[in-house]
This record gives sequence, structure tokens and C-alpha cells, in this order.
Amino acid sequence: MSNQKPLQLETTTALLSNYFRYKVEFVKGEGAYLFDSSDKEYLDFLSGIAVTGFGNRHPKVLKAVREQIENVWHTSNLFQSSGQEILAGKLAEHSGLGSVFFCNSGTEANEAAIKFTRKWGNGRSTIITALGGFHGRTLGSLSASGQYKLWEGFFPLTPGFVYVPYDDIEAIENSINHDTVAIMIEPIQGESGIIVPSEGYLRRLREICDNNNLLLVVDEVQTGMGRTGKLFAHQWEEIKPDIITLAKGIANGLPLGAIICSNEVAEYITPGSHGSTFGGNPVAVAAANVVMDLLTEDVLFYNSLMGKKIKVELKHINHPLIKDVRGKGLMIGIEFCEPVNAKDVALILLEEGVVVGTSGDRVIRILPPFIITDEEITKFMNIFTLTLNNL
Ligand SMILES: Cc1ncc(COP(=O)(O)O)c(C=O)c1O
Repeated sequence: MSNQKPLQLETTTALLSNYFRYKVEFVKGEGAYLFDSSDKEYLDFLSGIAVTGFGNRHPKVLKAVREQIENVWHTSNLFQSSGQEILAGKLAEHSGLGSVFFCNSGTEANEAAIKFTRKWGNGRSTIITALGGFHGRTLGSLSASGQYKLWEGFFPLTPGFVYVPYDDIEAIENSINHDTVAIMIEPIQGESGIIVPSEGYLRRLREICDNNNLLLVVDEVQTGMGRTGKLFAHQWEEIKPDIITLAKGIANGLPLGAIICSNEVAEYITPGSHGSTFGGNPVAVAAANVVMDLLTEDVLFYNSLMGKKIKVELKHINHPLIKDVRGKGLMIGIEFCEPVNAKDVALILLEEGVVVGTSGDRVIRILPPFIITDEEITKFMNIFTLTLNNL
């Protein structure tokens, strides 16, 4: 592993070096496969970080996007949008909540959630969030993300957040005071390494919010839109949050974010109190309307089934370098024992034609598209096992 190519982009371009980029450019995508400029094929087990759930160039998404772009591709939110209304109706129906606001990304959805809780709180403003949480990079959502390494150099943070260990009910109960207005939480911590809380965690949070007149804000940016085998991951616990934030998979790769909130919260959001120029862009919304229709019960069940299959097969390898395999549906983390570096493994897999993600130094994240087949899982397992055996 010593003579591997560095991951960072060469600094000969005008691009800001805020990303570690692999030296591969994908120029084409088809289903669960990506192709580089030399036409090398890669099995996509990342889906653009939990985004292209239905793969690349899905015919129905492609058709809807093409049709919309042929007609009109931006009008602003000063005018009516039947596409937005239809999509909002679908999201409201499936979440059991009343109102939807569209933006462009996960961080924006969480900014809106922070603002809406403050408006509803009418003076109360403290939000309890989890250590290790990730809610985005803009200042409000960054401040909600309980990770010092993300904050360094960007102080002062937005005030009004209290951080508690994830999956710790007592810590939440102990941190509630007269100013607390909400609990904001990921159903599974994605960026921190696919951390799945104990069963009943979200149910307990719902009870705590009810007993203390707090809003429960569930960040489903990564876990939502079918990724875990339910439309929204909180549905595994059969609870109803007050606010749900969405992005990533909602439009299968076109930039769109959404916040779904209860009517009780929506009442506080009057014209002029929040907005976005691009939010709910007609092309992204056209894609999202197809995504919602594609996310049938059968597809959700399939995701759950395929996720279980991958986990079982990974555990079956029983490799001494694998410390843990965890996750729900098609959101799976593989944690390695020290000193294996997850980024090194991801790079070898990439060279072998498989795209995966990483979290920190030890965890590989696999987020395959929902169209993944048994054969593709076998292909992944073969390449992955071979890679591990050669470490
Ligand atoms: C749970 C969660 N919330 C928010 C975000 C931020 O989303 P975006 O990058 O679209 O701003 C992410 C991105 O990884 C996420 O995983």
C-alpha cells in the first residue's frame, strides 16, 4: 500500500483545494455503473454519497427532466408551481405532516429547520443536538453539528446549541432547560461512520419532546428517500417528527432540499419570513416527482432485503481486519481494525473498479443504488474480499 497515488487533486488547477479528490473523472453513468474517460467501468457503491438512488440515466427520471427542461427550467418562487404542489402533496401524505418548503441542499434544509424552530419557540431558542452529528456546512447547520474538527477556524459559531452524546437519553433529559426549543437528530449518524442508535431511541426522543413541549427535528438528509428500507428512517420506530429535513436522494442527483413540517410549525412561517431563489427549481422538482413515484413499497422492501444480504455476506467473510459491520437498508458501514486505513482501502477498490465512500480513518461507507442486483453484490464481495486478503 506504500506506493499508492495521493488522493489530493494536483494544485495545478484553479479549483479551491477544500476536497480530497480521487484522480478519476467519471464522464458517463448508466444504471449502477460509472465510466471514466478511458471507458473503464466502475461499480457504483456510493451513489454520489447517497444521492443517485435510482442510478444514472434512469429512463423515467431522464424523460421527466428532459420534458421539463424543454419547457421551462426556472421561474422563481414568485409564481405558482404545480410541480412543487404535487411533490409537496406526496411528501406531506407519506410523512403525515402538513407543509413543505423547498430549497437546494441538506444544509439549507437544516438552516430552515433551525429558523422555523426559533420562530415557533417564540423566545426559546436552544436546540439539543448530538456529538458526532452532521447537519451541513453553513454556519447554522455547522453549529448544529457536534464535531470540533468541523468548527476549527470558523468561530464564533451560531449560538443556541447544546451537544450531548448520541444515543444517550439521560444526557438529553439532563440538558433540557427553560430555553430549550427542540431536539435535532439524525436517525442514523451517516458522516460519523454509520452509527445506528439503540432501538427505541427515536421513540424516547418523541416522548421527551411531547412531555417538554419541544419540537423533534429529524435530519433525514442522508437516511431519507428510501435509503434505509423505509421512505424515512424514523418510520422504523413508527414516530412522527415535527420537522423532517431532506436533500441528497430526493431528486436522484439534481439539487433539491426540502423541509416538511407540522401545521403547527407552518403557522408561524408567513410570507417573507423565509425563501430561496432557486429552491424548488422545476427541473429538480420534476425529477423528485418521479423519484417519489418510483419509491414503492416493493422498492423499499427490496432495499431492506439487499441491505441485509450485503451485511450478512460481509459478516460471513469473518475477516480479522473487519471490526464491525453495521447499518440499515442500503446504508452500511464497515469498520476496520487498526492500522487499516479506510481511505487506502477505498483507493484500492477504486483501482479495482468499485466506488465506495469513507468516514474518518477506519470506516468504509457503502451506499449502493436501489437498483443493485445479486450479481453486482457478488461482484462487490469478490473484489472486496480479494482487496482485504491483499492488505
Ligand atoms: C445528515 C446530513 N445532514 C445534512 C447534510 C448536508 O447536506 P448538503 O451537503 O446537501 O448540504 C448531510 C451531508 O452529508 C448529511 O449527511
